[in-house]
Amino acid sequence: MPITIRQIHPVFVGEVSGIDIAKAVTREDAQAIDAGMAKYAVLVFRDQKLTDEQQMAFTGNFGPIEDARGGNITKPQDRRLVEGMNDLSNLAKDGSPLPRDSRQRLFNIGNMLWHSDSSFRVIPAKYSLLSARTVNPRGGNTEFADMRAAYDALDDETKCEIADLVCEHSLMYSRGSLGFLDYSEEEKLMFKPVLQRLVRQHPVNGRKSLYLSSHAGGIVSMSMPEARILLRDLTEHATQSKFVYVHRWRPNDFVIWDNRQTMHRVRRFDESQPRDMRRTTVAGEAPTMAQ
Ligand SMILES: [Fe+2]
Repeated sequence: MPITIRQIHPVFVGEVSGIDIAKAVTREDAQAIDAGMAKYAVLVFRDQKLTDEQQMAFTGNFGPIEDARGGNITKPQDRRLVEGMNDLSNLAKDGSPLPRDSRQRLFNIGNMLWHSDSSFRVIPAKYSLLSARTVNPRGGNTEFADMRAAYDALDDETKCEIADLVCEHSLMYSRGSLGFLDYSEEEKLMFKPVLQRLVRQHPVNGRKSLYLSSHAGGIVSMSMPEARILLRDLTEHATQSKFVYVHRWRPNDFVIWDNRQTMHRVRRFDESQPRDMRRTTVAGEAPTMAQ
């Protein structure tokens, strides 16, 4: 049976049926998913029971897996999952929810801010693929915003004003906006800001989008207050409900999003209960600009 994609939001997001991700997918199916990603920017798959190995194998259809180093503060000895898997759970290595004052947990609260994955890397991520292994009983929805629709809806004056702007992105900006300010010298070096264009163009469909992220904390050649208010205004514009899809997780849901065309955030959940979400990330192909 060929795969089918049904649009489930007025401006983006498709729900895919007719595929079992746990099995080796055909070249045709992988191409259909890639084409669906360019068009819908977010794809939802239901009832996909996966092992980490199956998830990584499927991810490999869309490009090399991103090197996760430099993306968090978790020490190698505290890692719960194998290399290649990003742990977006609230769990410690022993499987129990992280204590309330855990530095790792507090750092991960930054995922509740609107962002695009790895915008703090020189070459930011292409796709993120998230598998719901254990769904939290309360909250924990993931919201996605279509940055192409948001760009299209800007007035011409604003489009002209922002056309060539370059932002500085760092994990220290997103976490800093929540008051998470203490970093070791090693972490400061690791989280050194990188430059990203504010407006990017998609390599496949040619559409322009706002490349926003809570990791953006400054704009080159602009004063900090002016830069931050512009970023805040644009983010408010881009995350209006008409541009947002709310994903309510069911066990074994699998969602792929294109970080070049969307932002996302997770909503608060019951931190005393497990939430086991596992992400694989397809590396981006090129920087958005010279550093
Ligand atoms: Fe994320």
